[in-house]
Amino acid sequence: MAKKEKTRDKFTIINELARRRGFFWQSYKIYGGVSGFATYGPLGAKLKQNIERKLRELFVNKLGILEIESPIIAPSKVFEASGHVDHFKEPMVECLKCKKRFRADHLLQETAKISAWEIEKMSLKELRTAIEKHKIKCPECNGAFGEPKQFLTMFKTTIGPYSKAVAYGRPEAAQGIFVEFKRLYQMAREKLPFGVLQIGHALRNEISPRQGLIRLREFTIMDLEFFFDPEEPNCFLLKDVKNEKLRLLLAKDKLKGSEKITEVSVKEALEKGYINAEWQAVFMAFAKKLLVSLGVPEEKQRFIEKLPWERAHYALQSFDQEVLVERWGWVEVSGHAYRTDYDLKRHMEFSGEDMSVYKEFEKPKEKETIVIKPIMAKLGPAFKSKAAKISEMISKANPTEVEESLKKKGFYMLDGYKILPEHVEVLRQKVLERGKHFIPHVVEPSFGSDRLVYVALEYAYHVKDDRAILGFPRDIAPIQLSVYPLVSKDGLPEKALEVYKMLVDEGFVVEYDEGGSIGRRYARADEVGIPLGITVDYETLKNETVTIRDRDSWKQVRSRIKELPELLHKYFRWKINFEDLGVPLES
Ligand code: ATP
Ligand code: GLY
Repeated sequence: MAKKEKTRDKFTIINELARRRGFFWQSYKIYGGVSGFATYGPLGAKLKQNIERKLRELFVNKLGILEIESPIIAPSKVFEASGHVDHFKEPMVECLKCKKRFRADHLLQETAKISAWEIEKMSLKELRTAIEKHKIKCPECNGAFGEPKQFLTMFKTTIGPYSKAVAYGRPEAAQGIFVEFKRLYQMAREKLPFGVLQIGHALRNEISPRQGLIRLREFTIMDLEFFFDPEEPNCFLLKDVKNEKLRLLLAKDKLKGSEKITEVSVKEALEKGYINAEWQAVFMAFAKKLLVSLGVPEEKQRFIEKLPWERAHYALQSFDQEVLVERWGWVEVSGHAYRTDYDLKRHMEFSGEDMSVYKEFEKPKEKETIVIKPIMAKLGPAFKSKAAKISEMISKANPTEVEESLKKKGFYMLDGYKILPEHVEVLRQKVLERGKHFIPHVVEPSFGSDRLVYVALEYAYHVKDDRAILGFPRDIAPIQLSVYPLVSKDGLPEKALEVYKMLVDEGFVVEYDEGGSIGRRYARADEVGIPLGITVDYETLKNETVTIRDRDSWKQVRSRIKELPELLHKYFRWKINFEDLGVPLES
């Protein structure tokens, strides 16, 4: 089978293998299948969980991040406040003949080879002109396209049987964090910085998804919102990653039409101003390490800076982490956005709920304030019966504005009343400020689990001696160990089951495989990426030892059964190598 695979691309091979061996497949197949929806089988579900665990190991445990789960459906108000109702749209064209609809920007990118950032800048009219200029026709029936339109890619629904209670499926998990900010801040003991992670399903009604796990309509998103005081932007983890190299494709180079990679350390990227926020640079280094730990080498990764018109509406600066894959080129696997105080401010505005935090200064600061004191003896004769009301209004007015207007114009207009300098006394008072109220800033790394699953599969896949192998890094392999009796007789299956049970009790994910020749069983295990195979043979019955086979080198060592748990725990935590598991066997 592997010979035939030389003529197919990896995307096709992975999807076929994934279907056949139970990683994932298109959902609703008995009804013809629906694009943009995938079901994970036992191996895929485990692989995805392992990848999510790696993210938790890297980000959550180190930073004491809080993890939450919030609903997928939210009332319209949430996404009006977040800006998604206005902005979460993509340009779409419809074929006038077969009525199929496509992403106008993707068609242009694929057919006319115009860069994504140039297309993103185009108005609907410009898109139409470009489609005509490049003579782009419907990929399904070669028909002509109509006028491009904006399509809101959020799934819309109603809550309960009330047609006016409009709601949306969340396109990102972040809003579930922002709307709960006050409560979460209390849980973080009212101290900044702190971060909140949410891993869960997101819904995006993608227009024409044709890229398997890379573009789904329901997918798993891992949004980490990290809140900090913009006046104290330093990241205490910088020292750990300051020398990590980042491969950046900077906005300034994109504008020149160049794909030049600027390779800099995290420290240099901050010093040179390539990345604005320290926390963002540190999270980008973590993201690079995460992908390396999933099997993607550094040189197959890059961070591409978004131009102002490409950025999401909430972002001051953003980079996409991209991975090179065979069929689709550079594919985004995570987005890194400096969201500032945009989201909290908008929710404060729309909900009326105070989203600011209070921070006590180490030492109180002396501050001068302006107080405008009404002089009743002057206001009385000037405004008669209205004087008391005007006096109250003056006390509530913005003192700086009043002072400036009196100085510049010689009067201040207050609800139609002309206040003159002689009506008030402008006082300067010194007050001690003990703290400040402010809205925290946010940096966000946001990963898609499904794209990580796909890239982990593509980078794990290789062929050795015409055999397909998924060479996953050992700690993300869906099954860690397989146990085999050499033959299905003479008490070997019973002994192998004993070893199998012992390893399961130790917490390993183990498969027991008794069927077919041992060579075929090894090949089956390699194809789903099981790192180690443990074989019970006749010698086992004599001296309580087994052989352990390495998926990647196909080498074997012999080990004592009773030492297996300790050795294997160390092996899967990367503390020892295969050669340390036992005595080598002649191959
Ligand atoms: P793209 O430009 O590819 O549509 P995006 O910029 O809209 O992606 P973000 O909004 O930054 O993506 O979402 C964060 C992450 O979620 C992405 O980096 C990606 O890994 C994942 N993601 C986004 N859309 C999808 C999708 N339709 N299917 C699978 N994963 C997705
Ligand atoms: N996080 C992507 C968006 O909601 O725009």
